[in-house]
Amino acid sequence: NQLEMELEAIEKGGYEHFMLKEINEQPRSIADCMRGRLDAQNGRLIVGGLRDYINKFQNADRIIITACGTSWHAGLVAEYLFEEFARIPVEVEYASEFRYRNPVINEGDFVIAISQSGETADTLAAIELAKSKGATIFGVCNVVGSSIARATHAGSYTHAGPEIGVASTKAFTAQISVLTMMALMLGYQRGTLSETKYIQLLSELEAIPAKVEKALKLNEQIEKISEQYKDARNFLYLGRGYNFPVALEGALKLKEISYIHAEGYPAAEMKHGPIALIDEEMPVVFIATKDSSYEKVVSNIQEVKARKGKIIAVVTEGDTSVKAMADHVIEIPHAHEALVPLISVVPLQLLSYHIAVMRGCNVDQPRNLAKSVTVE
Ligand code: G6P
Repeated sequence: NQLEMELEAIEKGGYEHFMLKEINEQPRSIADCMRGRLDAQNGRLIVGGLRDYINKFQNADRIIITACGTSWHAGLVAEYLFEEFARIPVEVEYASEFRYRNPVINEGDFVIAISQSGETADTLAAIELAKSKGATIFGVCNVVGSSIARATHAGSYTHAGPEIGVASTKAFTAQISVLTMMALMLGYQRGTLSETKYIQLLSELEAIPAKVEKALKLNEQIEKISEQYKDARNFLYLGRGYNFPVALEGALKLKEISYIHAEGYPAAEMKHGPIALIDEEMPVVFIATKDSSYEKVVSNIQEVKARKGKIIAVVTEGDTSVKAMADHVIEIPHAHEALVPLISVVPLQLLSYHIAVMRGCNVDQPRNLAKSVTVE
């Protein structure tokens, strides 16, 4: 009815869809997530939820991350973060697989369950299983008081605020923000991350919301690119290192809301299969920011170019090499490579959003999908 429609319009805060509103909220939601935890000026970082379990965390033999969907992608980013900064081995598990395969779990394992809703049935069951084996369970949830938040020993909320769009956006970047803070804190306390580097990363982290704000200004450019590719039947997303999970997430966003088939791959794996799909009809989205794998990604771009694929590349501001090869470049602000996913995912969220709108899809409530999956 009329009243409901008006209420919804107010909730959307002037945006046409919740998803677009939530994408645009990210500078705020990331800052909210860091508020009270990160104080770069004074070189301080405290993830309060860890306090009682800090010894277990620091001395963990292994970190097991379990989640589903987009939250699982945040877990993959965390694998790179924890291994790089804290030097603890990490396994990232789909909750649905983990719970049923009789996994090896020990008391020295520190399990991190990531969930926006805190209600995902498979993730909850994975937690119960790990708990029964004596592991310590830490939750990274968005919804306060949710089942997962209650089932874990301790946890940290992502404080992204309510997420209404079924396709997760601001919850994802908030999850990565919490996990990044956890990794930096752990690395510093274990002595695997030097004080100088730690301090530098803290201020880089503090600068992220402003960089995300800048990335959001790419909206119009991305809308124009979307116009050209809205009728594509397939998409490939490629990235390496920290941007590999971003490639998976970009592909998932497109599938979820535009119903275009999309695959995310580590760029180097392209030659073991997906390269066979490339022809002049195939858009390939590269995340090719200036980082330790940049040169390698550039050669992967050349391989696609040689096969006449259409190249859309997310690059670091001022990049010239990729610009010379790609059909479109989307320039995002520079950041330490470990923090880049927080920025590089933004243009991919916008790309999927615009393509879905142009195809007339129900962006906030895509067919067959649910915001929280409480059945297995
Ligand atoms: C559903 C949602 C996804 C979400 C996944 C995991 O599939 O549509 O957006 O990533 O569940 O949900 P969770 O609430 O556990 O993060």
